[in-house]
Amino acid sequence: TRAALAGRSVVLVGLMGAGKTTIGKRLATKLQLPFHDADAEIERAAGCSIAEMFERWGETAFRAGERRVIRRLLEGGPMVLATGGGAYMDPLTRALIRTRAVSVWLRCPLEVLAQRVAGRHHRPLLAGRDAREVLRELMAIRHPTYEKADLVIDCDNDTSEETTRAVLGAL
Ligand code: S3P
Repeated sequence: TRAALAGRSVVLVGLMGAGKTTIGKRLATKLQLPFHDADAEIERAAGCSIAEMFERWGETAFRAGERRVIRRLLEGGPMVLATGGGAYMDPLTRALIRTRAVSVWLRCPLEVLAQRVAGRHHRPLLAGRDAREVLRELMAIRHPTYEKADLVIDCDNDTSEETTRAVLGAL
C-alpha cells in the first residue's frame, strides 16, 4: 500500500466531524508515515485558536494562513495530513494536493456528522447556529468539490478501525 503512494502524501478531506484527524492518525501508524493536522499547525503558527483567528482577522485571513501552512507541510515530504473542512475548497490548495498527494474524501451522512460535532464549541462556523442546518448548507456547497478527491470512502456509521481499513484497501 505504501509503495502505491510512490512518495506522495495522503490528504484527508471532508466535513467537520468526518473523522479526518482520528482516521489520519490511524492511517499514519499503519503506513509508517508522519501525521500532521493542518488545523493544529495553523493554530501553532498563529499562536491562537482558530476561533480567535476568525474573530480577530476574519475567515479570509484564516484561509490564507491555511493555504500557506498546507503548502509548507506538503512540501516537506510524504505524510498523512488531516485538513480542516474548508481547505480543499480553495483552488490553489486543491491544485497542490493534486500534485503532491492522494486525496481521500471521508463521506459521512449528516446525522453522523451532527452527532460528532454536537456539544463541541471550538468551531467558529457552528457558533450560535444549529449544527444540522450549517452542515446541510455546507454539504450542498462542498460535496461537488469533495467529489473530485482521488478516493471517496463512505464512512456511514463505521468505527474508525473499519474506515481506516477501507482507506488502506482503496489506496
Ligand atoms: C472548517 C473546519 C474546521 C476548521 C475551521 C473551518 C470548515 O476543521 O478548519 O473551523 O470550513 O469546514 P475541521 O473540519 O477539522 O472541524
